[in-house]
Amino acid sequence: MKVGLKTQILPADEAAVAVAARCLREGGLVAFPTETVYGLGADAAQAAAVAAIYEAKGRPSFNPLIAHVADLKAARQIARFDATATELAEAFWPGPLTLVLPKTAHCPVAELATAGLDTVAIRVPAHPVAQSILRAFGGAVVAPSANLSGHVSPTTAFHVAGDLTGRVDLIIDGGPVNVGVESTIVACFDQAMLLRPGGLPREAIERVLGHAMQRLPEDAGSDNAQPLAPGMLASHYAPRTPVRLNATEVGDGEALLAFGSDPVPGTDKALAVMNLSDSGDLNEAATHLFGYLRTLDAKGSHAIAVMPIPHHGLGEAINDRLRRAAMGR
Ligand code: TXA
Ligand code: MG
Repeated sequence: MKVGLKTQILPADEAAVAVAARCLREGGLVAFPTETVYGLGADAAQAAAVAAIYEAKGRPSFNPLIAHVADLKAARQIARFDATATELAEAFWPGPLTLVLPKTAHCPVAELATAGLDTVAIRVPAHPVAQSILRAFGGAVVAPSANLSGHVSPTTAFHVAGDLTGRVDLIIDGGPVNVGVESTIVACFDQAMLLRPGGLPREAIERVLGHAMQRLPEDAGSDNAQPLAPGMLASHYAPRTPVRLNATEVGDGEALLAFGSDPVPGTDKALAVMNLSDSGDLNEAATHLFGYLRTLDAKGSHAIAVMPIPHHGLGEAINDRLRRAAMGR
């Protein structure tokens, strides 16, 4: 899409859903809420619309995108489900789980959206607005998170507007999202492999599988010829301000991203303090993570000191995003 485009922002009602579906059909770009983060959608079957997503986000490379569909039946048009994939889809869709699967022979998703891979990432979102748009549109919608490349993912329409006004056709405002980190990505080939921790805790998936999942090796996303998760660039989630992890005290000129009720020495002199969850609730912390990083990033501190976050449940995804944020751009 051309910069300078007029961007319409509509509250998520029935009329807005119809406008969104028409816009997608015409090859436009529509930002919409999912339960994880806001997505920037285009018709998966139109190569030009898919290309416009990369341009609007300023994505430096053609990372493959997730195809969003309304249900498992629609997903089967796009990808081949083995027994494991079927089991996971039935257990967790609609919801914050993305499956990477072999494409079907007549997969309608544009080559550009899958970056030339034989596989496709696919998800059935649970958010009622995302569901309504997918049903009204009737096809697959590819959607990365609706932020400029390198920014943290948007959890409100306000974040989306800050990044993408003038770059997309339409923003559907469905209020703040309720998960707050991106979907968990699992590849199902010979066996299930965790490509990205996310909004569905690993433990829930492993309970259904009946065994532990392998995690993709840390460096597999960077420079392999056919990377398994090409978009897992280390710096994907970085704010501008340096991020310091596992902080047990606050230094001069630092802002504090706190967790739980334990006091941290130096908090009184912090430039700003935001607590992901006073009560130590990891689900609540996930919903606040990206918004608080954006807010603290704007405070002009030397660094954002982040208290340790437990590594279970949504903590694995939170720690993954924080580690990327700490690596800088
Ligand atoms: O929650 C989410 O997943 C959000 C909402 C909008 O659905 N979307 C999202 O998309 O986070 P994005 O583009 O920011 O991240 C998609 C990830 C990238 O890391 C990409 O490399 C990976 O999915 N991916 C896509 N297709 C793949 C494939 N065929 N094989 C391996 N990884 C793939
Ligand atoms: Mg993203």
